[in-house]
This record gives sequence, structure tokens and C-alpha cells, in this order.
Amino acid sequence: MLAIASTHEARIDWEYVFDDPALAALYDKAKRLQWNAAADVDWTIEVDPERFLEFLPVDAFNTMLAPPRRLTRKEVYDFQLHQLAWLLSQFLHGEQGALLATARIVDAVPRADTKLFAAIQVTDEARHVEVYRRYLTEKLPLQYPVNPHLKELLSQILREPRWDMIYLGMQIMIEGIALAAFGLMHFLYPLEPLLLDITARVMRDEARHVAFGLLSLDGVYAEMTAAERKEREDFVIEAARLIRERLLMQEVWTSLGFDSAAWSRWSRETPFAVGFRKLLFAKIVPNVKRLGLLTPRVRRAFEQLGILGFELGTDSSVDEQMPVPPPELLSLLTKLGTGV
Ligand SMILES: [Fe+2]
Ligand SMILES: [Fe+2]
Repeated sequence: MLAIASTHEARIDWEYVFDDPALAALYDKAKRLQWNAAADVDWTIEVDPERFLEFLPVDAFNTMLAPPRRLTRKEVYDFQLHQLAWLLSQFLHGEQGALLATARIVDAVPRADTKLFAAIQVTDEARHVEVYRRYLTEKLPLQYPVNPHLKELLSQILREPRWDMIYLGMQIMIEGIALAAFGLMHFLYPLEPLLLDITARVMRDEARHVAFGLLSLDGVYAEMTAAERKEREDFVIEAARLIRERLLMQEVWTSLGFDSAAWSRWSRETPFAVGFRKLLFAKIVPNVKRLGLLTPRVRRAFEQLGILGFELGTDSSVDEQMPVPPPELLSLLTKLGTGV
């Protein structure tokens, strides 16, 4: 357990002005699209990690991913199993963070109509914790603890007293990554119907959450002083760094008994791993731009991370589905000559 103290203020809005049609539409949609994680998901579907090898057989794995050394069939099986368990475990821990952060948003935001949407998001996040916990305990024989960089980012968000920073950390940065990661699951595990069903359901919810974040922060940064905006820039830059470090999956190499230094280097340098990690920022960059925070400093930091190119992408203000697979993934695969 981790206890995080916070000094945010709870605000009661006695005015009840509900005059934002976009937010009202999103709230209405959220109510209509509720689902039951126990009853609406077919939990009788078997998960067989052997199927991962049907989609990405040993030879294709060794050619496409260019690992530090050629892996055997058993090692590729373990790699794919551990990668999925690690990924879903981080989703689970992130979802619990989102549950707590959104509960804080209910308290901290000034407007009553915003509190109502945040309240329904709390329910959504509870459901997401439920599905990932169930998948990880009933369907996969493996779980991972929270990644230290994710833990640090969640702690920073939950310590934060300023409501816009809670949004910025959770709705824009963490949920932005989640939205892109969910889009990639269709590509990574196309033969897992249970996982794809869960992912599609969660992704529809998350798209609303990111749109909610953008709506709520619309115009907020334009009214701030340069000093206040600089704090937000620092936060975005630090969060992007923590996310990048988290995505290196070091715990997986250790757990598999792989040479940690060689695999960390692979993860940092191999075109496939680098390209894949960058794709996870595909939604964050246009969203940060829409908020007016793609300032010269943030731009430089994003350039160093190699993700500035996404600034031309569509932002998530309309909670549309990400195309599957995303166009950026298709162009990466084409560049790598995998023929997909
Ligand atoms: Fe969620
Ligand atoms: Fe969410």
C-alpha cells in the first residue's frame, strides 16, 4: 500500500450553471455507454499464450525485432507472455491511479457540471480496475508490480493540489499514452478475442476521458502568467521523461533472466523498439499543442524524445476511436520492411 498526502481544496459550486453543450453531450454519452464488466464480457473465453506464437512465430520475431541474440521458441513464448503481463499490470496500476485522480477532480474542480462528468469517470475507472484485475488473476499466470517510473508519476499527480495539474497529468499524459497503447493492442495480440473485447470497451471510455480533459482545460493556459505556464511546461516535460523510462520494460528483462544491460540497450536503440515507443506519444503531442502548451521549451524536449512529428496529428477533442492499426504504426512497419 502507498499513502499519499494531498492539500487540494474541495470546492462546492452553488451556481449550477450547465452551459457547456460539448460537456453535456459527453456526459450524456457516458451515461448511455455504461457497461458491466462482469455481465457484458464473456469471461468463458480461454486465453492460451501459445496463440501469441501463431501470430508472431519465432523466425519472424527474431527477424523483425532484431533482439540482442537469437531467441529460442521457449524464450519467445516467455517474452510474449511476460510482455503482456507487464503491460496489463501497468494498465491495472494506472487504472487505479486514474480512479483516485478522478475522485480528486470531483472534489477540486470549480464547476458542478464538470464534477458530474468526473463522477461518471470514477465509475468507468472502477470498471477498468475490475476487468484488468480479473484478466490478470484468472487468465494469465503472471502479474508485475507497479513500475517505479509509473509509481513516481502517479504519486506526483496525487500530491498535486492544483486541479488543472491533476488533469494534465492524468487525462492528458497518462490517458493519452493509454489511448495509444490500447490502439496498438490490436496489432500486438490480434488472436486474443477476450483481450480485444476488453480493450475496445476500455478504449471507448478512455477516449471520452481524454476529450473531457481537453474540454476542461480549454483556454485555461492562455490566461495564466508566464511563471504559472512554465510550471506546467516543466510538468509535461518531466511526465514525458518518466513515461519514456517506464516504457523500457527493464523489469521484464530481469524477470526473464536476460542480460539486462544488453536488452536495455536494445530497448533504447533498436528501430522497432524505438519506433513502437514513440507511437505511444501519438495522442499526447497534438493534445498538448491544442492546450497551448507546445511552447518552445516543450517543443525542444519533445524533439529530443523524437516525438515532435506527431504535432500534426489529430487531437482527441472529439472522442473518436483511434483507427486500428493507427496510420503511424503502418508507416513504421512499412519503413521497417515487414510487409504488413
Ligand atoms: Fe481507465
Ligand atoms: Fe480513464
